[in-house]
Amino acid sequence: MFKIAVLISGNGSNLEALIDACKKNVINGSIDIVISNNPDAYGIQRAKNHFINYKIIDNNRFETREDFDQALVEELKDSNPDLIVLAGFMRILTSVMTEAFKNKIINIHPSLLPKYPGLDTHNSVVKNGDLKHGITIHFVNEVLDGGQIIAQGEISVNANETSEELKTRIHAIEHVMLPIVVSKFADGTINTKRVIYEKFK
Ligand code: GAR
Repeated sequence: MFKIAVLISGNGSNLEALIDACKKNVINGSIDIVISNNPDAYGIQRAKNHFINYKIIDNNRFETREDFDQALVEELKDSNPDLIVLAGFMRILTSVMTEAFKNKIINIHPSLLPKYPGLDTHNSVVKNGDLKHGITIHFVNEVLDGGQIIAQGEISVNANETSEELKTRIHAIEHVMLPIVVSKFADGTINTKRVIYEKFK
């Protein structure tokens, strides 16, 4: 069975989309563990609701990023996942994690990278009057939102659309695209040489 680890920091709606896709066999695999760096993340409740093994590793308890990453590595080594999905995990990883799980960590980011790495992407789109926005799923390396792109989903920005409205629409396409990409990993049909590009309404 293809084993997935999901790392979260907050609401966990993308985690829920993955749980749902596993239940419906859209993803031929199972979520083995959910790890949150934030003890108050609502996503933990989602894991509990579905009886999924979860662990809280509070980054505030560690002096350095490397120490925190080492704790993640130790936990993940136990579970030995085939794929680690950062789904709203708001920490920059160091080489301690990226070297331990080379080509096994993917992240979902709410912008059309390389545009707008980091935070506040929806506000940036509105402020700059961009005509399009979107999401990116990419491999994780030590560069913030900088790893090889696997898939992107694009939407057109409506006239006078607010950043909150954009956030809602972006979330909806994340919930479609993340399970598709993870299912391709699980089936062994992911093609890292060709970016999956979808346009949404
Ligand atoms: C998602 O929009 C995800 O793309 C973003 O956080 C949100 C988490 O939502 N991730 C990042 O900004 C990472 N740089 P969720 O907790 O409801 O899945």
